[in-house]
Amino acid sequence: MNISLTTNAIGAEITDIDVRTLSDEAFADLRSAFIEHGVIFIRDQNLSPEDHIAFAKRWADIDINRFFKAVDGYPEIAEVLKEADQTGNIGGGWHTDHSYDQVPAMGSILYAREIPPSGGDTLWASMGAAYDALSDGFKEMLSGLTAVHSSRHIFGANAQYAKEFGDRLGNAESATQDAEHPVVIAHPESGRKLLYVNPGFTIGIKGWNPAEAHALLQFLYQHAQQPMFQTRFKWREGDIAMWDNRSTWHFALNDYHGHRRYLHRITLAGVPIAA
Ligand code: SIN
Repeated sequence: MNISLTTNAIGAEITDIDVRTLSDEAFADLRSAFIEHGVIFIRDQNLSPEDHIAFAKRWADIDINRFFKAVDGYPEIAEVLKEADQTGNIGGGWHTDHSYDQVPAMGSILYAREIPPSGGDTLWASMGAAYDALSDGFKEMLSGLTAVHSSRHIFGANAQYAKEFGDRLGNAESATQDAEHPVVIAHPESGRKLLYVNPGFTIGIKGWNPAEAHALLQFLYQHAQQPMFQTRFKWREGDIAMWDNRSTWHFALNDYHGHRRYLHRITLAGVPIAA
């Protein structure tokens, strides 16, 4: 297995492996790369849905996403689809999957089945690097804060976002709970400090009024979006991207109108997070 960094802040490309036949030793190396680099890119795989599920189960239990349409016959696999005649894409803004859950997902394994001839890249940003770059005084101020996260405004019955996606999303009645998490968490495995707010699902700061929370969150979002914290992946069919939802954000670019883009995503269950 070869591991090469995609940028200094985030991401590693893994070559010369077949995830269907990984030894326990190789799997341990892959797990270390995943924790250390936040997102790993594994090129040229040939996965059936059963292979994808079997690979996912080596990492953790599967966390079935309640809002995405599933692949027929495979409730564990969510479809990430944009047809040639559709305009909205899933994940087209910076976000962290499942931060609206009490126990957020550990990560996601996205497998490319159909990729447009150009465009449709995905960006990831490191919330460890973004946190590290803040001043000590600012880190101290953030350390006592709790953020509120929600799925209601994205997936709920009145959410404009979900309405635009037709049958690609559903189950709006399940978008009822909010979750509170520290603004800065320690990674459950590495202990690294991470900024844990995101533009998709964070809706406020506990005990702050909306204007105060908006100002702080906008500052953090502008800060964390700086290109020096990012990596960008140009997909080919058969590629896997697997990211850590605790330590990264991601953003699926929507620049390929008129072409189909189709991927399968499995989300992995996480463990409780804390400051
Ligand atoms: C997602 O947000 O899970 C979709 C990412 C992508 O389509 O690249």
